[in-house]
Amino acid sequence: MGKKARIAVLVSGGGTNLQALIDAQKKGKLKSGRIKLVVSNNREAFALKRAEKNRIKTAVVTRSEAGELFEEKIIEALENEKIDLIILAGFLAILSESFTSRYAGRIINVHPSLIPSFCGEGYYGLKVHEEALAKGVKVTGATVHFVNEIPDGGEIILQKAVKIKAGDTPEILQKRVMKQAEWKLLPEAAEKISKKIIKERAQ
Ligand code: GRF
Repeated sequence: MGKKARIAVLVSGGGTNLQALIDAQKKGKLKSGRIKLVVSNNREAFALKRAEKNRIKTAVVTRSEAGELFEEKIIEALENEKIDLIILAGFLAILSESFTSRYAGRIINVHPSLIPSFCGEGYYGLKVHEEALAKGVKVTGATVHFVNEIPDGGEIILQKAVKIKAGDTPEILQKRVMKQAEWKLLPEAAEKISKKIIKERAQ
């Protein structure tokens, strides 16, 4: 097997999913890929601190500073690090079709519902869980999928179901979905796709 896949994680906020990836790397569960770069579109993101603490290179590209060059600057950071796999982990900016097609089959995202429920434009953060509770579904979960030009519309890689309990609030449910599904599923998918990348490279 060849060298490890070079991973970039794109973040906007707290970075608990980034932390799950870092922990999986440390434990050897993520072994076919290595996190080489964390890119944030928010200078204040706590995720940046998590990266620094683990000596992972960081880049900050904000829409307000980069303007029309937002994606170009992200691409520049990715190319500098020769990134093979891009992981969106709570990255709240929508990427254009030119970006997603450039990295087709090379961008994955974690979404806190069982796609195709409660997904698409505007479904992020607590809103996803509020809608699941409002609908009265008894099971929700998380999905890791490839990213294409349709928000949450790319091919599904992994899914995991999570039970909804009586008395759940959006906050309680969000936490349970993260703990039981997202933090497990994302490192698992990262390993799966990294392995695929290095296998393809060897052929
Ligand atoms: C997660 O719920 C993720 O599914 C969603 O945004 C949240 C990010 O949380 N896309 P964190 O920054 O990883 O803690």
